[in-house]
Amino acid sequence: MRYKSIRGMSDILPRDTGAWRRIEQITRLELESSGYKEIRTPILEDTAVFKRSIGETTDIVTKEMYTFSDRKGRALTLRPEGTAPVVRAYIENALNKISPVSLLYYIGPMFRSERPQKGRSRQFHQIGIEIIGSRSPQVDGEVIYRLNRLLGAFGLTNAVIKLNSLGCRQDKAGFTDKLKKYLRAEKKRLCEDCKKRIEKNAMRVLDCKNESCLLVIKNAPKIIDSLCDKCLHHFSLVKAMLRARGGEIDFQEDHNLVRGLDYYTGPVFEVTHPGLGGQDALAAGGRYDNLVKEFGGPDTGAAGFAIGIERLMLALGEKKEFKKPKILYIATLGDEARSKGLLLAERLKQVLNASQTLNCVVLLNMENASLKAQMRSANRENAKITVILGADEIKSEKITIKDMESGEQVSIEENFFSGEIKKRIGL
Ligand code: HAM
Repeated sequence: MRYKSIRGMSDILPRDTGAWRRIEQITRLELESSGYKEIRTPILEDTAVFKRSIGETTDIVTKEMYTFSDRKGRALTLRPEGTAPVVRAYIENALNKISPVSLLYYIGPMFRSERPQKGRSRQFHQIGIEIIGSRSPQVDGEVIYRLNRLLGAFGLTNAVIKLNSLGCRQDKAGFTDKLKKYLRAEKKRLCEDCKKRIEKNAMRVLDCKNESCLLVIKNAPKIIDSLCDKCLHHFSLVKAMLRARGGEIDFQEDHNLVRGLDYYTGPVFEVTHPGLGGQDALAAGGRYDNLVKEFGGPDTGAAGFAIGIERLMLALGEKKEFKKPKILYIATLGDEARSKGLLLAERLKQVLNASQTLNCVVLLNMENASLKAQMRSANRENAKITVILGADEIKSEKITIKDMESGEQVSIEENFFSGEIKKRIGL
């Protein structure tokens, strides 16, 4: 019997984990240096957390959630996204008492039972931020700016930011009425899914990629024309803030951008990348001013984004490669040399990897192998340097260093040994 991973859920293998860790490190540095703090919520939540926030009629809730009953019959769901759990945790732990505005971030797996294809999986990972506690347009500006900075720090180019505003609850309701009227009149030209969407979740029609639906959407009423003065003003301040960054943030207004989650109000955005193909949304987010109160918390605003890490990796392509640590191999001959090798390995790791940076990996042979076999292992591991410790070296208190590229071999006094290795590793 051979087991396989569950469809749409992949292993992240050792050849890729370095790039993943690099992305995580850059994220932590960029976000924590800007005052964000990490939050880790459970993978499982009460199903109601998602139904209430994402919306009963959305694709995620109706078709994509992994929901099951536990032994006591409680409905639980594997989190399909991070915003609702963070808001639940914010209220449950009264984070508003700690500071008026919370800057939170998370990195972790999410689960949606969608049809797997390139850039779409059933377990995927997100990097997300949520700023909770303010309705200021400064916050929308910060969220988009931070997303742009992060993508830049990862080395991503050519990302396109699309921006729209959905307005407040009243604006959304007014617009939905107008849109429904229009879509009912055009019903014949819509695909089967969109026909159903008209009454259940009319705004989702604007997201359909079906050709005949696109023709209908082209002439549909635009939400921007339904915004109240306050929401229009808020939106124009956000855009002005982004423009004030002097072209650093390149955004396009897209008045059909609606997002697939119901909690949004006000400015929303999506980042696409030409390298991604069909599933081209790399990151998305926006403001959600009603959610905290709806979850029983204070009446306060919030906004955030999430980046899909798998899609980010695809978009980065070659650029996700990172500076790999150098490999140093210690070959030992005899028991005495082996124990000395162990001590040496620990000393070298400390010296070469000072300030928590992984510059060098020190490998030791674990078997009682011949020098020839150990040199073969060193080659297989792509070692830059092999250190040889045998009876002669022990006696003379010298250590032999072999440069694996040039083949040059030198004998060094133990006292000068670490300095020489540092130089050869390029530190
Ligand atoms: P979302 O648009 O549902 O928003 O997901 C954000 C990103 O997650 C997408 O742009 C995409 O890169 C990635 N993603 C989503 N589904 C999949 C999938 N099946 N496979 C691979 N990647 C996927 C949210 O989740 C919101 N919580 C974002 C947010 C945070 N809004 C405010 N704060």
